[in-house]
Amino acid sequence: MPDSFIPLAIPELDEEDARSVYECVKSTFVSSVGPLVGKFEEHIARFTGAPHAVAASSGTTAMTLALRALGVGAGDVVIAPDFTFVATVNPAVNLGAEVVLVDPEPETMNPDPDRVLEAVDMLRKEGRRPKAVVFVHLYGVPGKLGSLVGPLGDMEVPLVEDAAESLGASWTSGPLAGRHTGTAGICGILSFNGNKIITCGGGGMVLTSSEALAGRMKHLSTQARRPGIEYDHDDVGYNFRLTNLQASLGLSQLSKLGRYLERKHEIRRRYDRAFGSLAGVLLHPSPQDSAGSDWLYTVRLDSGISARVVIDELRTRGIEARPVWTPVHMQKPYIKMRYVGNGVSEKLHASGISLPSSVGMTEAQQDRVIEEFISIVESYSG
Ligand SMILES: Cc1ncc(COP(=O)(O)O)c(C=O)c1O
Repeated sequence: MPDSFIPLAIPELDEEDARSVYECVKSTFVSSVGPLVGKFEEHIARFTGAPHAVAASSGTTAMTLALRALGVGAGDVVIAPDFTFVATVNPAVNLGAEVVLVDPEPETMNPDPDRVLEAVDMLRKEGRRPKAVVFVHLYGVPGKLGSLVGPLGDMEVPLVEDAAESLGASWTSGPLAGRHTGTAGICGILSFNGNKIITCGGGGMVLTSSEALAGRMKHLSTQARRPGIEYDHDDVGYNFRLTNLQASLGLSQLSKLGRYLERKHEIRRRYDRAFGSLAGVLLHPSPQDSAGSDWLYTVRLDSGISARVVIDELRTRGIEARPVWTPVHMQKPYIKMRYVGNGVSEKLHASGISLPSSVGMTEAQQDRVIEEFISIVESYSG
């Protein structure tokens, strides 16, 4: 493997981040009690336009808080994406709910609104109503939620968005114009894991339009402990709160988000230009009605070449490329779950490739990715 390995998506961390964490350490407020968690919540709420934001220890725990606050539990059914990272789906299952998985639509790779409604209808015929619909916006691309918010609202089915990968993405036209992903439903979650556009090391956030839900989630995230100096708990909660130390890094990272987004767009434009006329390659999704964050540049091969072969070849040339998500219905714990679809997720899985997209990637590194990718695809195209 060449010395100059090009990673997929590494965090962009600088002296300013180090200073911010150092100041927090010096303050001794390193755990969940401290002023920076609230400040981080306020800044994220302001950036996304969400009325309320509740910090959590990860995107996964944020999703757990949202679903738990909505009352999801044993005996309930939740509709969730089949094509996603399994963390989108695990919280509902861990809360004891049954999950019905729905196929994505091929343009954005996000859940197909028609499949969601089909699943709702299937459940209605069984005399059941989903306790929630979980939607996802993968790779920084906003999904087609515009046609779903109305019907779900009419049926009073809560919508929870997994916007873990799409901080900075928004809709530009249609019913959701001007809204950031994660703010179209009653709750939306973000992740600040190391590979995300901004990081706290680990961390998450729930965005919500409901003050009552925000209070409930904050309460649940702090062991459901009542205010005061006694140890009084009025529910079975969790230790899911973000720490002040993590928030110190999150705040410093958030102050640079605009620059990071610009860099991600630049990376997408360069890949688009290079691959625009390459036969058999579908570019990273760029739907008409939205402005994606371009978090992770993801192409699809539609000429029958196996994505896995290209990924393995890139890796031997020192370039970290990754397959897209393995459909949830193909994962061992989910094999018996109901799946509404006809193989779109499997086709995406066989054809999708994520390419290096780190904010700090140099133009020379990107040129190398472009050159090697084109040469591999052309060699297999015969
Ligand atoms: C789509 C999606 N959902 C949920 C998560 C979970 O976030 P976390 O790793 O912060 O728990 C991630 C990322 O890791 C993700 O990519």
